[in-house]
Amino acid sequence: MKNKVALVTGASRGLGKSIAVKLAEAGAKVIVNYYNNQDKAEEIVREIHAFGGEAVAIQADVTSHEGVDKLVTISNQTFQQPIEILVNNATGPQPELSLEDVTWEDYLDQLHFTVKAPLLLTKAVMTAMKENQWGRIINIGSEVVELGNPEFSNYVTAKSAVIGMTRSWANELGKHNITVNAVHPGFIPVERHGEVTEESASDYVAGVPLQRLGKPEDIAGMVRFLASDEGDFVTGQNINVNGGKTFGV
Ligand SMILES: NC(=O)c1ccc[n+]([C@@H]2O[C@H](COP(=O)([O-])OP(=O)(O)OC[C@H]3O[C@@H](n4cnc5c(N)ncnc54)[C@H](OP(=O)(O)O)[C@@H]3O)[C@@H](O)[C@H]2O)c1
Repeated sequence: MKNKVALVTGASRGLGKSIAVKLAEAGAKVIVNYYNNQDKAEEIVREIHAFGGEAVAIQADVTSHEGVDKLVTISNQTFQQPIEILVNNATGPQPELSLEDVTWEDYLDQLHFTVKAPLLLTKAVMTAMKENQWGRIINIGSEVVELGNPEFSNYVTAKSAVIGMTRSWANELGKHNITVNAVHPGFIPVERHGEVTEESASDYVAGVPLQRLGKPEDIAGMVRFLASDEGDFVTGQNINVNGGKTFGV
């Protein structure tokens, strides 16, 4: 993916950070999108520059039209070429709520990240992808869709939409040589989870055939594959990266 521009939303920390670094290692020019954490995003850009990669941090709220316009405009100005790889990764707070407590607004909060942001971004980048007859769209879902975690229906429902959306977009965009896939991570401890050891997560790990927690690099590796030329003939797929905890829908 040398010299291709890759946008990773929500890349200031967590899985997005790891994805941004992996894509930069593979030669992509990476946009490290962030919302609040400018310092962390700039730290990642410095990390990428340190190994000779190219990256820029751009602040934008990907759930708003204005934010997406700003993000794509600054990216185009910076790199003088369009975004060819889009990774829809950003997420907001994910409150666990019982059916007694959850509201429609709580559902919408999640849908803004899993459906609205990917839709706005895809519409903003697909014209150039079609012109170039090459594009990669990678949506980050979750294994919760298969687990059906209770008191989490706001998040589980919103992530479920990623599956059908990915398939429909793949069917629609395939003729333009644009692939659309989803990667569904298992539980991968990141900064927001605090200290999580295999022992403290033993109930979860017990149900994982590979008997360990996942690492952000596990997800980033799959994203890199799908974004690369090696992923050329893969589209419309929902790929679990969770040590085999679930087997796919
Ligand atoms: N980690 C897991 O166990 C796990 C499991 C399954 C699925 N996933 C999925 O993997 C993806 C990444 O999860 P994560 O755990 O790495 O998340 P995270 O650590 O909470 O990071 C969220 C990222 O999203 C950004 N963000 C928040 N609001 C935004 C907005 N309005 N516009 C743009 N960016 C925004 C944050 O930016 P700032 O920090 O700058 O505010 C941050 O970079 C999500 O789609 C999540 O649902 C994660």
